[in-house]
Amino acid sequence: MNGSLSSAASAAKERHESAAASGLQLDMSRGKPSPDQLSLVEGMLESVSPGDVRSEHGTDCRNYGGDLFGLPEARRLFAAMLDVSADSVIVQDNSSLRLMFDTVAQCLLVGTSQAGPWRALDKVKFLCPVPGYDRHFGLLEYFGVEMIPVDMTDVGPEMETVERLVRDDASVRGIFCVPRHSNPTGATYSAVTVQALASMSTAAPDFRIFWDNAYAVHHLTSSPPPLSSLLDSCEQAGNPDRVLMFGSTSKISFAGSGVSLLAASASNLSWLRGHLSKQSIGPDKLNQLRHVRFFRDLAGIESHMRRHAEIIGPKFELVDRVLEERLGGLVSSDGRPLASWSLPHGGYFISFDVLPECARRVYDLASQAGLKLTPAGATFPLGDDPRDQNLRLAPTMPSLDELERATELIADCVVLASAELQSGA
Ligand SMILES: Cc1ncc(COP(=O)(O)O)c(C=O)c1O
Repeated sequence: MNGSLSSAASAAKERHESAAASGLQLDMSRGKPSPDQLSLVEGMLESVSPGDVRSEHGTDCRNYGGDLFGLPEARRLFAAMLDVSADSVIVQDNSSLRLMFDTVAQCLLVGTSQAGPWRALDKVKFLCPVPGYDRHFGLLEYFGVEMIPVDMTDVGPEMETVERLVRDDASVRGIFCVPRHSNPTGATYSAVTVQALASMSTAAPDFRIFWDNAYAVHHLTSSPPPLSSLLDSCEQAGNPDRVLMFGSTSKISFAGSGVSLLAASASNLSWLRGHLSKQSIGPDKLNQLRHVRFFRDLAGIESHMRRHAEIIGPKFELVDRVLEERLGGLVSSDGRPLASWSLPHGGYFISFDVLPECARRVYDLASQAGLKLTPAGATFPLGDDPRDQNLRLAPTMPSLDELERATELIADCVVLASAELQSGA
C-alpha cells in the first residue's frame, strides 16, 4: 500500500468507527425530490377550486368523459415539454414506470402495432445501457426478458455494439434508454447517437426503443447539451413506429401525484388506445387541470425547474467538492485514482466508480456506519456489476448538512475499502 493511502486509511478508520458508534442514520439511496422542492408546487393544490372544474372545452373534469388520451390543453403543454406535437402525446395518471411496464406487457401478450406477441418467441432480449436505471432492469427481469448490457459512453450507449446486436439477432426486441441526464451517469445522447438509433437496421420487424425522457427539463446548468427528437428522426428514417417515448412530472410537480406521458407515432397511439380503453374509462382530469393551470406553458415549467436547480444544484456541487477534497490525488499502488465520478448537467444522480472489486465493500462499510446507499450492482441487470465498481449517489433528498456528513463518510469508506483491497485483506 502506498504511504498516503495508508495514512488516509488510519484516519478514515477512526472516523468510520465514530460514525458507526454515533447511531447515524442517513439515506442517499433514492432520487427523491427534497421537501423544499415539493413546497414550490404546493400552490397547485389550490389551482382547481369548487365551482371551477371545467376544461377549456367545457368538460366537467369531475365526471367521466373527455378523451382517453388526456385533456387537449394538457397534451399541448406536455408536448412542448417533450418537444413533440400535441397529437403525438398522451397524458395519463401518475407513474411513467407503470406505463412502461404496461407497454412491455402488451408487446409480450398481444404483440406490437407491427407484429405478433413476443411471448411466442423462444427468447425475448433487450439491450440495457449500463450503468442504468435499476427499475427498468427490475421490470424486464419480472417478465423474464433476457438483458444484454451495453456500455454507456458520454454520448449514449456504445453504438457499434448496439448496431451489431440488433442487426444479427431477431430476438433482440428493444432497448431502454434514458436519453437526457441519464440515470445514473448524467449523459445526454448526442445527435449522432439519436440518428443511428433511428436508422439502424434491425433483424426484428418491430424493434422498440423505450425512450424514457424522465429528465427532459431537469437541468442543473444554464447550457445543457441539446437532445434531438427521436420521434422526428425515426419518422424521417422510415421507422416511425420504432420509438415509444415516456416522461412524467414526478420530479417536476409531486413525485406521488404527477402525470405520466407517452409520445409515439399515430399507429402506435391507435395500438395503445386499443388496450388503454379496456383498462380505464379515462385518466384523472382534475389533476391534469391542476397541472395546466399551475404551469400554464413551457416557460412556466422551465422557470419552475430553474427554482429546482437553485435548490439541488448546490447539493451536487457539495458532493463534488467533498469528494475532491477527500479523494482527489489518492491513488492505488499501481497509480489508479481511488474513485472517479460524473459531474452531471442535470438529472438526479452522480455515477461513482471506485476501484474494481470495491463497490460492494464500500456499500457495506457505509451501511455499517448508518448510511444507506443504492445497493452496489443495482445499476446493472440482475444486480450484477461484473467489475463490482459502480455506485449511484442520490444527493437531492438530504439537507446540505446531512449531505456533507454522508459524502465525507463515503470518501472514508472508499479509502478503507481500497486499503483493504491493496493489503489483500
Ligand atoms: C429514468 C427514470 N425513469 C422513470 C422514473 C420514475 O418515473 P415515474 O415516477 O413517472 O414512474 C425514474 C425515477 O427515478 C427514473 O429515474
